[in-house]
Amino acid sequence: MSFRTLRDIDVKGHRVFLRADLNVPIQAGTITDTTRIRETLPTLHHLLDGGASVVLCSHLGRPKGTGFEAEFSLAPVAEWLKAQGLDLKLASGLVGPAVEAEAAALRPGQVLLLENIRFDKGETKNDPAFAKALARLADTYVDDAFGSAHRAHASVSGMVADFPPGRAVAGFLMEKELTALGRIMDHPARPLLAIMGGSKVSDKIGIIRHFFGKADAILIGGAMTFTFLKAMGVPIGNSRCEEDKLELANELRGEAAAAGTRLLLPLDHLVAAAVDADAECDITQDQAVPDGKMGLDIGPETVAAYTEEIRKAKTILWNGPMGVFELEPFASGTLTLAEEMADAADHGAFVLVGGGDSVTAAAKAGVTQRLGHISTGGGASLEFLSGMELPGVAALQTT
Ligand code: 3PG
Repeated sequence: MSFRTLRDIDVKGHRVFLRADLNVPIQAGTITDTTRIRETLPTLHHLLDGGASVVLCSHLGRPKGTGFEAEFSLAPVAEWLKAQGLDLKLASGLVGPAVEAEAAALRPGQVLLLENIRFDKGETKNDPAFAKALARLADTYVDDAFGSAHRAHASVSGMVADFPPGRAVAGFLMEKELTALGRIMDHPARPLLAIMGGSKVSDKIGIIRHFFGKADAILIGGAMTFTFLKAMGVPIGNSRCEEDKLELANELRGEAAAAGTRLLLPLDHLVAAAVDADAECDITQDQAVPDGKMGLDIGPETVAAYTEEIRKAKTILWNGPMGVFELEPFASGTLTLAEEMADAADHGAFVLVGGGDSVTAAAKAGVTQRLGHISTGGGASLEFLSGMELPGVAALQTT
């Protein structure tokens, strides 16, 4: 895969359309996690310091696509960026003569932030007319929105073809993400370990399968454990289970064995009668969960076995928690493994955290800074690691 990046082009005097993923959590008008905005600042500063003006674009949440909705406005993001000292104005619309005039009036070093691009349904429908109208706002396209790269939307892929070859490039965040993910996919240092958690096997089938024959071992945790165990005939009490995926779970075990990848399941569990922080907890003797109980975290024997694997690994992909880590009594398995992964990273292993809940868990364990790469894309990294082509990346590809 080859694509041009910001390093390959001169931006001085150019007007750049910067597609970023500024889809941050906002509560009562306050951004509760600014990671995604901060991660795109190196690209933004490079453009502005290099003498470009910027038309900045992102989606936020999933508005209806029928016009402005205050709940999904990028206004809090505009305020945050202005507070960082940026010379930034929120545009009066998304496309059309008025916005084109606002874009044309930009001086080098200035930013025009478009409102939530999904306020127009042309975005998610990848409408060619909408894409062309967006492209009229700038002469150069820079894509830093890795978190949106799995969406075939107008501002992510549709408009790219409207720029001359060589004027559509990846930003620094996009480049950083693709380089990190490439380290896992192409010639990883071995052993390569994939730690997969979360509630549903169905969410992770693609990625689990893609790592058969690639990973030396896959460690399973979270509620999806119980779909595998039930399929093997192990009693699972009241644990969550995808009844319609039992056959699939057995197939996956067979495929792993055939591909020479060890698929490890928890050896014991922390169980309780309910997902309740006050519930009485027990540790099972083995893989079986007693009647009336549900598995809510991996048990100590599993933590020890998984720790041994982590300590041997040279490359680790982590996607999904081992239990209901949001509640303190069920957090220990996830947080202990996060700490072990940070130790492994300290000792030279490359650890990639594939977005979503694992990012929150890493933060809760206080190890974010010690891990090699934390992806800003949940769905995008999952699809990339499942071997799927991302429209936002394909659009930038030069070969
Ligand atoms: C994300 O939060 O994963 C990205 O911003 C994409 O958002 P979407 O799932 O609404 O397309």
